[in-house]
Formats: sequence, C-alpha cells, structure tokens
Amino acid sequence: AVTALTPKDLAGEHLLVTAGPTQEEIDPVRFVSNHSSGKMGYAIARAARRRGAEVTLVSGPTCLDAPWGVETVRVASAVEMRAAVMAALPAATVVIKAAAVADYRPVVRAAGKIKKNADSLVIELEKNPDILAELGGIKGDRLLVGFAAETADLLENARKKLVAKNVDMMVANDVSLEGAGFHGDTNIARLLYRDGASEELPLMTKDDMAALILGRVAELRKKTG
Ligand code: CTP
Ligand code: CA
Repeated sequence: AVTALTPKDLAGEHLLVTAGPTQEEIDPVRFVSNHSSGKMGYAIARAARRRGAEVTLVSGPTCLDAPWGVETVRVASAVEMRAAVMAALPAATVVIKAAAVADYRPVVRAAGKIKKNADSLVIELEKNPDILAELGGIKGDRLLVGFAAETADLLENARKKLVAKNVDMMVANDVSLEGAGFHGDTNIARLLYRDGASEELPLMTKDDMAALILGRVAELRKKTG
C-alpha cells in the first residue's frame, strides 16, 4: 500500500502550516483579497500528516476540504490568522507559511453595505501585521519556512525576505510564469537557504513539491537537532 512507501521522517515533529488567502472586509458584503487557492499549503499539510507529523493547518478562506487527520483552524483576515498562528505556535517545531496574507486592510469597515451613490470611491488601506517577520523574531529552535511570491527579480527579492524575516528556507515562486502560482495544480520554485545555497526545481505538481519541501525540512531538522 501507498502508506508503506511513505517515509515517516517527520514523526515526532509538529508542523504549523498556513494556507490560502486572507480576506479583509470593506463592508458586510465586500472584501480585499488575492488569488491564492490554498492548494500548496493544503498539499503540504496532507503530506506532512502522511509522513508522521502532527499537523495544525491555519487556513484562510478556500474551497478545499480539511485534510484528514489535520487540526484545521479556519480564519478570514490577517489579524485573525496572526492570532491563530500565535495560539498554535508553542506546540510547533516547524512552521511553514504558505498563506498569501493580504498586505493591507481597509482602515474602516463600514457597518452597512456601501451604496453606489458617489461617482468614485476611495478606500484607504493600512498595513497588516507581517506574521512571518514576527515569527522570525521569536522562533527559537523552530524551523521556519517562508514563501516568496514575485513577478520580477525573483532571487534577489526572495533572498532579501529570507534575511529580513529570519527564515531557514524560502520557497521562491515567480508567479508570472506559466505553470506556477495560484490557481493551478503545478508550481515552479527555487528553494533558498540561509547559507546562500539555492536549488532550482523544475515544473512539478503541488503534491510533488510538497513532498520535496518536506524532505528538505526533515533533513534540516536532523541537522539542527
Ligand atoms: N507574510 C506574512 N504576513 C504578511 C505578509 C506576508 O506572514 N502580512 C508571509 C507570507 O505568508 C509569505 C512571506 O511572508 O510566507 C512572503 O510573502 P510575500 O507577499 O512574498 O512578501 P512580503 O513580505 O509581503 O513583501 P511584498 O508583498 O511587498 O513582496
Ligand atoms: Ca505580500
């Protein structure tokens, strides 16, 4: 059977995985969000469970079913995602931040539906907390994996984020490439490491990429204890 072939190389680990977009409400019927499907993070959560890890998945709104055997916490906004991540953090040994957190939220959420009375409308946005950067400051012995979505200067931008957010491994995606990014079942990425090394991965399914990422996670955990 398939399970017999799955390495249990994450037994004893507790993975905290985030997935999906966040939604930032404008009024009771509208929000600001992005194109994240959640597929990459869910693939990682499923695969981690199969490899023997305990898994907590903090998910923004997606169409996906909660993976079997995974404690799934559903949230909507970045502020809610931050609270759920911080609540799950003490138990975690590895954190993988695949979520596409909205960078900004409306300053004001209108109590009632905004009517189309005006000819133009300006919605002021303010910055959301950067959950990954905050984790980088308090991670302790945990292994921290970030994702970087770029449309230009992939390596340079992803490397900057790796350093600034103090992550151990960065999965860098050029989301403008055919076969990469949000909606599909495939992805193209580069893995960047703290020591400056990088690994270019070919186009593969999100399930295969999840397996590959978790293989690297298991190796890094063995190295660092
Ligand atoms: N991230 C986060 N909280 C935010 C924004 C991003 O935790 N408010 C995390 C994402 O989950 C991802 C990583 O930071 O793992 C990089 O996200 P990305 O959008 O690529 O980078 P940003 O730092 O937001 O910079 P920019 O969008 O300007 O490129
Ligand atoms: Ca961002």
